[in-house]
Amino acid sequence: MEHPLLIQGGMGIGVSNWRLARVVSQLGHLGVVSGTAINSVLARRLQDGDVGGHVRRALKAFPAPAIAEKILAKYFLEEGRPATQPYKGVPMFSLRPSLDLLQLTVVASFVEVFLAREDHQGLVGLNLLEKIQLPNLACLYGAILAGVHYVIMGAGIPREIPGALDLLSQNKKAELRITVDGGEPAIMEFDPAVVMDGQARTSLRRPFFLPIVSSSTLAMTLKKKATGAVNGFVVEHHVAGGHNAPPRGPLRLNGLGEPVYGQRDEVAFAEMVALDLPFWFAGQAATPEKFHEIRQAGAQGIQVGTLFAFCDESGLDPALREKTLRAIATQKPPEGGWVYTDARSSPTGFPFKVVRMSGTASESEVFEGRRRCCDLGYLRTCYKKEDGSIGERCPAEPVADYLRKGGAVEDTVGRKCLCNFLMTDIGLGQVRSGGVEPPLLTAGDDLNFVSRMLSDGRTSYSAKDVVDYLFSPVVENWVIHPALA
Ligand SMILES: Cc1cc2nc3c(=O)[nH]c(=O)nc-3n(C[C@H](O)[C@H](O)[C@H](O)COP(=O)(O)O)c2cc1C
Repeated sequence: MEHPLLIQGGMGIGVSNWRLARVVSQLGHLGVVSGTAINSVLARRLQDGDVGGHVRRALKAFPAPAIAEKILAKYFLEEGRPATQPYKGVPMFSLRPSLDLLQLTVVASFVEVFLAREDHQGLVGLNLLEKIQLPNLACLYGAILAGVHYVIMGAGIPREIPGALDLLSQNKKAELRITVDGGEPAIMEFDPAVVMDGQARTSLRRPFFLPIVSSSTLAMTLKKKATGAVNGFVVEHHVAGGHNAPPRGPLRLNGLGEPVYGQRDEVAFAEMVALDLPFWFAGQAATPEKFHEIRQAGAQGIQVGTLFAFCDESGLDPALREKTLRAIATQKPPEGGWVYTDARSSPTGFPFKVVRMSGTASESEVFEGRRRCCDLGYLRTCYKKEDGSIGERCPAEPVADYLRKGGAVEDTVGRKCLCNFLMTDIGLGQVRSGGVEPPLLTAGDDLNFVSRMLSDGRTSYSAKDVVDYLFSPVVENWVIHPALA
């Protein structure tokens, strides 16, 4: 099988959903679904009546029907949920999640990949964040069950994932070491035979694994020290959307409070080529000229996020997408541009890109007007309690709770509830007493140049427009690096 030239980057929560990935895949490229918080996405789609019946169709294909039926019975509302009624929650992950939670997560990941792959032969990938450790094995297994071709993982060093993929694709028990603040790492286990009620199949396809790296040194370490085969890399520059790797060396901030990156943060292509594995470059790579240049320098291709995030098929709430595109097309950008690299907002501690858009939690009034509440909990990490047992906490949860759990008050400052805000971005925001949770958009610096997709007075564009643009023949006689010939 040939690797694709173009990867549509995984974008959580639910921005790169099955619809977007499916279209990109059908166009002959790698469409990637996000597995982040996918169990809550599934539960909320079902509570909204599963418009179009897609989730229910995919559930019918799940290899353990009794598990799928249990989930349907628990979350599906035939008439949908009244807009003022809060969604029924999904339990938060812990080191020892309930069987129900594991099954819901496996099923949700299965459904997303199944729908992205339905009725065509194209390639589909799954994106996960290494930092969100606890649901990962269940997500991986669900995606493997649905025949995912690639797993792409960033925001951390996913050293143990390749070995887990080897085991899970043979339906064997897999483990991950989970970081525990103040203690030794703990082991999380996932046993397909238990989770599938004994209905695990024998052999499944082991997907290719592409870790996302920001340096050739990290790529080299992963190639040598991962627990199984690494099949290539996505090399992500700090201008990319979502979470970014922090700058090397001590953190310095510019006048706007953004991390300052320097020459040491640039990736040497020659060193990546020397690793002798395919790699894709991500981060403002989305012009035909840049695409060509990157191929010439030895990359297999590019991974593109921002342009796809704002196309018609993405999971973003259409009203929010249109408002953003209209503002960018017609208004003067704020000082420093539409995208701000926020060193504080993400509970992960990684810099996180936010779009400076009115009415979203990028505005301090919106953010500060919200009462803290932690009920999705994907960004909680494990910590050792005084009695030696293990708990979970997030620096964006209510400050008193975090302090009670032994956290430091300075860690809570400026931390935003990405879980809840990002769910609102895709129209699945939780209803609180004061209204629906606010959105908070993320995008790469490329958003400043999105108007190139809106020529001739257009106010929207499709995934196909993005693909056609990237492959448009502005560059004649592509010269390819000898490593790719
Ligand atoms: C809305 C949005 C959400 C993203 N979420 C994720 C994510 O969940 N996981 C991930 O590995 N990368 C994420 N990214 C990064 C993209 O996958 C991709 O690497 C990046 O956007 C490429 O740079 P570009 O935005 O300049 O095209 C996200 C990007 C955007 C725009």
